Amino acid sequence: MDIRRLPMVYANVATDKNRILNHLELIRKKRCVLDSSDASKGLLCRAGHIELQLTDKCCLDCPNCHFRGLGDKEIPFEALDNIGRFIKPKAITIAGGGEPTVYPSFDKAVSKLAKIPGVKIGLITNGVIIPDGLWRKCIDWVRVSVYSVEDGKYSGRSAEVYWKVLDNIEFYLKHCVEIPHVGIHFLFYRKNMSDVVPFIKEVYLRYKNDSRAFERMHLQFKPAFLMSYPTQLTQKLHEENVTFLPDKEQLITLLANLKDEFKKCEGLEYFLRRKSNVSLFSQLIDGGLSRLIDITKPRDVFVEKPDECFVCLAYQLIAPDGYIYPCLTLAEYRFHELSICNIADLPNCNIDAMNYFRKMRSEWCNSSFCRSWEHNKIVKGYLDGLLGADVSNDKFF
Ligand SMILES: C[S@@+](CC[C@H](N)C(=O)[O-])C[C@H]1O[C@@H](n2cnc3c(N)ncnc32)[C@H](O)[C@@H]1O
Ligand code: SF4
Ligand code: SF4
Repeated sequence: MDIRRLPMVYANVATDKNRILNHLELIRKKRCVLDSSDASKGLLCRAGHIELQLTDKCCLDCPNCHFRGLGDKEIPFEALDNIGRFIKPKAITIAGGGEPTVYPSFDKAVSKLAKIPGVKIGLITNGVIIPDGLWRKCIDWVRVSVYSVEDGKYSGRSAEVYWKVLDNIEFYLKHCVEIPHVGIHFLFYRKNMSDVVPFIKEVYLRYKNDSRAFERMHLQFKPAFLMSYPTQLTQKLHEENVTFLPDKEQLITLLANLKDEFKKCEGLEYFLRRKSNVSLFSQLIDGGLSRLIDITKPRDVFVEKPDECFVCLAYQLIAPDGYIYPCLTLAEYRFHELSICNIADLPNCNIDAMNYFRKMRSEWCNSSFCRSWEHNKIVKGYLDGLLGADVSNDKFF
């Protein structure tokens, strides 16, 4: 098998940073409005892609979740009307906060959002509950997060829930054929690294003879991270981060174990190379892990020169309390004073807050902390005429 000839893995297409270029027109228009005393301020609350957190409630209690303990707020159902009326996104990712499928009017909420002209909708779920209803016909992808059994518990619940989640993924793949893409997301960190290979084998064995499921399924591995503040980096937090992340030895062992499995199990390598971002593990060995470790290294200043943020003109995150943030990195911290407005107050939004993000005023605006740094470089390169547009055909985002 010549793995160099394989098409781009969907997990990489889905996270392709060039997708920001799908929102160039909106970025250009919003820039003009902010630079002028233009009367069309209504445009400022528009976004190309929104992450919508319907609720902070969840049926699991994952040990590393950034949102546990934040309360149990929920977006009022009626407020969702304002998304179509004012924000008019091309794409919506319904995620957490908590677990979207426990939102009381989940089915109706998805159906309502699906009425926005041309919108594409994706769902990130822990896979414990599959709500009834027509919502499955309205979405373009679902991504189920799979966690590990630690100390006899699956995310604070019975260890059996692990198998329930895998069975529910099978249900999505076999019985919800109207959903074009079904992602399986595995979050890894030092304590669960030994679960990676058994998880891969389980998934492979379930679908290796099911070509229809195989085509729609995508496996994504992602390293977990700890929340931190760029101005409050301590040695203690750094040590915590170092021991939280996998170590290099574990990654090398994982790749060696996979190599052994490839010899034993014909087809497994092809499956992983074609259907997952397994190359991430080698990238971590080749410098990626050091970069993750360095994020929390105590230091006084970040050297990068702030310039202009374009990402905040294209994206938004709406938290369960209704506050809207134009920066996905900072949104997780839920600083209300940085929100541009509450969804209930649209179309009015705080232009000073918009400019705060655009002018990269926050201490998060540097290459270590900003999760959209590369996106900004791509847009800048394009606007400066240095880069050509190379946008994925799949414009879900
Ligand atoms: C907070 S969850 C909300 C949606 C849903 N409850 C779920 O678990 O998929 C959204 C995403 O964040 C990921 N996540 C959870 N804890 C994380 C951590 N410590 N670092 C990075 N991602 C994390 C989850 O795996 C999931 O893909
Ligand atoms: S299932 Fe999702 S929201 Fe719930 S605790 Fe786990 S990561 Fe957090
Ligand atoms: S951290 Fe700063 S540069 Fe990055 S997306 Fe947010 S506002 Fe923009």
